[in-house]
Amino acid sequence: MEQTSKVDASVATATTTQTADAAGGAIGRTRVGTALVPYASQRVAYWYFVIALALFGLQLLVGLWLAASYAFTMPQGLENALPYGMTRAIHTNLLVLWLLLGFMGGTYYLVPEEAQREIYSVKLAYLQLIALVGTGVTAIVGFLFGWTQGKPILEIPVPLDFVVVLGALIFLFNVGMTVLRGKKTAILGMLLGGLVFLALLYIFGMPFYRNLTIDWYYWWWVVHLWVEGAWELVTASILAFVLIKVTGVQRKVVEKYLYLETALFLFTGLAGTGHHYYWIGAPDVWLWVGAIFSAMEVLPIIAMVIDAFLTKRHEGYVIKDKVVWTFCMGTAIGHLIGAGVWGFAHTLPQINYYTHGSQITASHGHMAFFGAYALLNFAMFWYAIPRLRGITRYKPSLAIGGFWIMSLAVIGLGLAMAVAGVIQVYVERVLGQGFMTAQLHMQLWFKVVMFFGVVLIAGLAMTAWTMLKGRQEDSTEVEAVEIV
Ligand code: HEM
Ligand code: HEM
Ligand SMILES: [Fe+2]
Repeated sequence: MEQTSKVDASVATATTTQTADAAGGAIGRTRVGTALVPYASQRVAYWYFVIALALFGLQLLVGLWLAASYAFTMPQGLENALPYGMTRAIHTNLLVLWLLLGFMGGTYYLVPEEAQREIYSVKLAYLQLIALVGTGVTAIVGFLFGWTQGKPILEIPVPLDFVVVLGALIFLFNVGMTVLRGKKTAILGMLLGGLVFLALLYIFGMPFYRNLTIDWYYWWWVVHLWVEGAWELVTASILAFVLIKVTGVQRKVVEKYLYLETALFLFTGLAGTGHHYYWIGAPDVWLWVGAIFSAMEVLPIIAMVIDAFLTKRHEGYVIKDKVVWTFCMGTAIGHLIGAGVWGFAHTLPQINYYTHGSQITASHGHMAFFGAYALLNFAMFWYAIPRLRGITRYKPSLAIGGFWIMSLAVIGLGLAMAVAGVIQVYVERVLGQGFMTAQLHMQLWFKVVMFFGVVLIAGLAMTAWTMLKGRQEDSTEVEAVEIV
């Protein structure tokens, strides 16, 4: 790569050069020693990020097929070859896999800087990556042949679940040992807590309970308690790390909010699980518990957005990286709209009675996952990848353009699904007509979904290309992000 050779060798720290081999040598064609990271073992993160980006692309392509199955009446032969249930499983499992790989890469990137030491074992970090990606690929090929456990989002069959658990254990051991032997910070404590919680919850989705109410009850422990519990902790820690780095605001200020928001997230999110127990045959006390606590889940999200805006007031505040900052603000606002507003809209039982399991749910699922977790991952990618590639200056225009294209595309896609959802609720649940009648009325809106899907894919392609291949900007006359 031409641009990396232009980087002044003096920017590479001594640690990087000395221990580069420990991290498995060069990244792509970047020369060893040119990465701008203080610890060589941070480089493992690079492959987690690259694979995450590729899987995101694949997830979107499959999403287009799903939307097409709604938008058009497909020839039966095609549907037999790529059945909806199977392709939906591929779409959602790829989502979970790439987001988790992103979180893990993010963890491997930030832990050495926080703990002030190299990762306990770089080899284990690569082994874990191979185990998880290998399981993911096997699972998806398995889905194509009908090998599935059948539970939505957790379709991975039990034997493969054990490999996932093994991968998670290696990860926790590796990160745990690093933290144990290094400096301990609040960010690390919260991150580790979130990761352990995340791994423990996965186990509840593994057995199949013969009583379906009980099966769904535990299914939500994984699905809800992940995205409205454990993942919030992981996200808060990653966001805190990135915010401290790109705004220069003191650690103790950022950490204070971190504790407060996280406590609120757990307080509301745990009992908030009740908003999934309304109609599954659980005791009706859940109608109250679910309504009250899940409505309160919006509070920590609002607090997080206010907190992000108020960062500007604090001593030392100066935006050092416009691109990462844009993604940080994007994720705070995206979280608020997708999870907070879109979640609140259908969380009360009086409303959920009509909207349950409709395209309103799908609209919220897209806006929330993208706003909260995809954008958060991209904030970390944009912080880490230029440093890992040894880029010291780059033009921010394509990166920020990518942010807007992707975000507006998801808003368009989410709104189109919401319109389809309102039509569906009206036709099916108010007029009492069949699903196929509702589906006919929804077709137009799924064509709109497809349109925004194509825009999203273009935005992602542009972003990934700029991130992984973008050039070093040498001219000082051009506006650029400076990496120091
Ligand atoms: C970032 C956080 C969140 C993510 C990623 C997320 C994602 C999702 C997804 C994917 C589903 C569909 C699950 C399924 O049935 O297959 C769902 C359902 C639901 N979510 Fe969220 N959600 C988040 C936060 C919230 C919050 C904060 C609220 C409430 C204030 C909420 C309220 C709901 C409700 C009520 C349902 C059930 C919809 C139904 O009955 O069909 N969500 N969420
Ligand atoms: C090319 C863009 C995309 C298209 C066309 C698309 C389309 C779809 C469709 C048609 C469904 C099925 C909904 C149903 O079963 O009724 C679906 C499910 C889902 N997609 Fe996407 N999608 C796209 C991108 C994304 C992105 C970017 C995310 C998250 C970051 C995402 C997350 C999900 C989730 C969580 C579900 C399950 C929702 C639920 O359980 O209600 N998709 N997608
Ligand atoms: Fe939930």
